[in-house]
Amino acid sequence: MARIGIFDSGVGGLTVQRALIEALPGADTIYLGDTARLPYGTKSAATVTQYSLRSARVLEARGIDLLVVACNTASAVALPALRAALPMPVIGVVEPGARAAVKATTGGRIGVIGTAGTIGSGAYTAALRALRPDALVVAWACPLFVPLAEEGWTDPADEVVRGVVRRYLAPLKAERIDTLVLGCTHYPLLRAAIAAELPGVTLVDSAETVAAEVKALLPASTGRAATHRFLVTDTPEKFLAVAGRFLGRPVESAEHVDVE
Ligand code: DGL
Repeated sequence: MARIGIFDSGVGGLTVQRALIEALPGADTIYLGDTARLPYGTKSAATVTQYSLRSARVLEARGIDLLVVACNTASAVALPALRAALPMPVIGVVEPGARAAVKATTGGRIGVIGTAGTIGSGAYTAALRALRPDALVVAWACPLFVPLAEEGWTDPADEVVRGVVRRYLAPLKAERIDTLVLGCTHYPLLRAAIAAELPGVTLVDSAETVAAEVKALLPASTGRAATHRFLVTDTPEKFLAVAGRFLGRPVESAEHVDVE
């Protein structure tokens, strides 16, 4: 029975865990949300790398076979350090997302949205250009999307949601992108509002591509019911209040861990 470790700055990586559970129903998963240090998206690459290494060590100690870095910001800035430090395969979300976008694009006009840290790192632009050198890549940070999703303000009919989405997406719309990478764990929750603003644009969520990649690396499941555990670095209450919305199923308990 394989055990997959999943790491994120907070609750958003549960959207990736959800895709993993659907793709690998027989695999155990253990999720760590570094809720005490959220958000990562506004912090320096050095700080995010240090936090990511500490959290990954906690999951390593629990005996995982593979680590999925569900956080786009950590994937963008800390993947080489995590791969160098850990003995098991480490899968990030940036390369699978870029691959899915290159597959989906019709005219080679690709947008990427993410946190300031992800967009500032240039990781998505580099991954997209490596796969498709002639692509037009428009990368744009949308920092207010994270608090909107955490608050549950995701209804496309809500005028605040519509206004924020319209303002951030205007430069991508002006460039007539045909494909948009949702390069942040929280953005799939705003999918309907983003789709309403960019009709005809293909939205790429790397979660499913990541799940397919993990499935190819792990042995087939045995049919036993899998267990799913949740670890958080802050008190569990706030995590538990919103986790079900991100995971798409109830989350009853989470264990507090100290990563210091
Ligand atoms: N998990 C982060 C990401 O995907 C978003 C939240 C944060 O800024 O920590 O980039």
